[in-house]
Amino acid sequence: MTREGRYASSSIAPEALDLFVVNIAQLCTVDDPARDGAGPRRRAALGDAGIVGRAAFAVADGRVVATGPEAELRRALFADGGLPPGLEILDVGGCAVVPGFVDPHTHAVFGRTRHDEYERRLRGETYLQIAAAGGGIRASVRDLRARGEDELVELSVARLARLLRHGTTTVEIKSGYGLSLADELKMLRIARRAADLAGIRAVLTCLAAHEIPDEYRERRGDYVRLVCDEVLPRVAAEKLAERCDVFCEPSVFGLADTETILVRAAELGLRVTVHADELEPMGGAQLAARLGADSADHLIRIDANGIAALADRRTVATLLPGTAFTLGLPRYAPAREMVEAGCAVAIATDFNPGSCPIYSVPLVQSIACSQMRLSPGEALVASTLNAAWALGLAAEVGSLAPGKAADFVVLTGDDHRLVPYHGGVDSVAAVYRSGRRVA
Ligand code: NIG
Ligand code: FE
Repeated sequence: MTREGRYASSSIAPEALDLFVVNIAQLCTVDDPARDGAGPRRRAALGDAGIVGRAAFAVADGRVVATGPEAELRRALFADGGLPPGLEILDVGGCAVVPGFVDPHTHAVFGRTRHDEYERRLRGETYLQIAAAGGGIRASVRDLRARGEDELVELSVARLARLLRHGTTTVEIKSGYGLSLADELKMLRIARRAADLAGIRAVLTCLAAHEIPDEYRERRGDYVRLVCDEVLPRVAAEKLAERCDVFCEPSVFGLADTETILVRAAELGLRVTVHADELEPMGGAQLAARLGADSADHLIRIDANGIAALADRRTVATLLPGTAFTLGLPRYAPAREMVEAGCAVAIATDFNPGSCPIYSVPLVQSIACSQMRLSPGEALVASTLNAAWALGLAAEVGSLAPGKAADFVVLTGDDHRLVPYHGGVDSVAAVYRSGRRVA
């Protein structure tokens, strides 16, 4: 399909341009002005990658100002045919270009990896059995509390740099391995410092309700009060996070505790999201929809009522198929049913040391296609524009639309479908944030 050019305004001065990206065999803009102001993509619109063949785009001040067929753009922007002398030209050599990936669910700040638990699971123990025995999240909590801030910043910068190299230009980072007032604040400070040093855009989420810490095992109510009365007010007052999350699962926080925590967070001005219906079905999706959450995440065990609750709602259904893959679960979230019912589906890595050490969005796109039957176009939109909606950032990132940040990925192949087809391996040639190369 050949689309016409899109321009930020009717007159763009050539000398104002910083970068002109040319020789793009396939430009996936993920941009549809008739639709994209209204909300996240649903149903058939989820699969529309906004493809322009033999394309180019122009960047000024780090923002996209024009996209379209290269021949048309050259005529429209440079009427006399000549390119201004100072303009940087990026010739991508016939490769495809897509928007920078938005990964709306990670736990990317942690100390040690938990590959020991991976092996235990392969021998037959389950994620919940390991957690009940003191491993899992609580093992990462003990480890994180024992490490200093600078050391954790260094580990996190290295990890975030890897995400960038795999095409992620915007990432959500949760706390949740601190589980005390001081350690949750420490984690959020680390996440901000690390994201700034790595040069990645980040949205931070307080997940103090990730687990009941060792010292509160017999006093769950006291821990919920600590989160509501001390942790969240400090996080909000010091602007350490924009959002609050809860691991809503029968063995962790039930529906009532989840609602108490999220309502308190909303009173404090934080946006909310929920780990919902991951391992057991319990109505987390309905709660997320009712509270107007940014997203309900995981949803492996969502039922028909949960799907109906999210259909045509603003709350995004963020699916994390890398987790089911890593845990070797027998099922994945029912993505096709959700798309057809009108849920706004996004995908994310869930990058964390336990249930999903995968940090590559391209690999997660591949798993989403092979295991959940998303089309490559749906997987792309789910990890760009819909993921941006899930973070409240759709006006800024998620598509190559005039006015938005020029965050983009040059692929190694000439068609975006090669990304999931090759299992996500070696699919990223170069990564740009705000028009500057970052990986
Ligand atoms: O999203 N579900 C809870 N949190 C993570 C797991 C974190 C961990 O095991 O350390 C998840 O899967
Ligand atoms: Fe998670």
